[in-house]
Amino acid sequence: MASKVKEKIIQLFTENSNEYLSGQFLSDELGISRTAIWKYMKELQDEGIEVEAVRKVGYKITGKSDRLTPTDIQLGLETKKFGRNVVYHEETNSTQTIANELVLNDAPEGTIVLAERQLLGRGRLQRNWLTSDGKAIAMSVILRPAISPRVAPQLTLLTAVVIASAIEKVTGLHPNIKWPNDILINNKKVCGILTEMQGDADCIKSVVIGIGINVNQVEEDYPLELSDIATSLRIEKGQTFMRANLIQAILAEFEKFYEIFLEKGFKPIKILWESYAISLGKQIKATTLTEEIVGNAIGITDEGQLLIEDHLGNVHTIYSADISI
Ligand code: BTN
Repeated sequence: MASKVKEKIIQLFTENSNEYLSGQFLSDELGISRTAIWKYMKELQDEGIEVEAVRKVGYKITGKSDRLTPTDIQLGLETKKFGRNVVYHEETNSTQTIANELVLNDAPEGTIVLAERQLLGRGRLQRNWLTSDGKAIAMSVILRPAISPRVAPQLTLLTAVVIASAIEKVTGLHPNIKWPNDILINNKKVCGILTEMQGDADCIKSVVIGIGINVNQVEEDYPLELSDIATSLRIEKGQTFMRANLIQAILAEFEKFYEIFLEKGFKPIKILWESYAISLGKQIKATTLTEEIVGNAIGITDEGQLLIEDHLGNVHTIYSADISI
């Protein structure tokens, strides 16, 4: 975890991006010597941050590496709460496991867990999730909403809107959402979301939202069985992206939409979700644990469940399923 001084230095450079900050200014702001400032700037450089130091002028940050350390995330971060506490692992079994442990240790809302490599990444419906080393985003976000478990699935749909909107802003690509929460580009999956809840029947204590995004993979990175159904932002756009920038955009969108959700409920989020939805108005097949339902996806309920009308005109409410279009 970054020291308070380092956090403040990162904040000052975020507030004054593209500007030189003099050693004297930084030393006055932080109440430490210019030599100590120099040492901190050196530390940032050692972490892969590009620092330009001009004699008698000061320091300027000119670039950063494509890593996901707390410094990479917080340099340029514009949120109040989301991503202010970053837990970073080069390698871990699953960021979900770490986040679920942190929840028990009172980690604040908006804490994120990031990893370059997951050895046992988890997907929905007990599936495995593959995280390409250094090319993907594997992130878990801790939420502590005071809501009933009944409306918790709405948070999954909210997250899908957050990711779709952030991808759109950062890449200019136009993602779609496949209910409940797969993000697709040109009909191939670019992101998956896994929501895990802690609490009792009446009240949620916390929610851990796992987000896996394919960012800089090339086609050869995918095993044959995935190449028809998975894609990456790089494959779709023909250029690489700084993962930390995308994470910053996601955190900013998250903070914004989460506040709207807590204040105004699901309705405004539902409208946005529908604007990205790919499955609505189409013939789909929903495979649940107990049955297969084929029909027209006619909409989602105010709680976020999917409505399918079969050929007999019966409307089915789907809580959880695998959807094929
Ligand atoms: C899915 O589409 O099945 C959901 C995939 C969720 C993957 C993410 S990656 C970060 C977090 N850690 C995990 O082990 N899983 C989620």
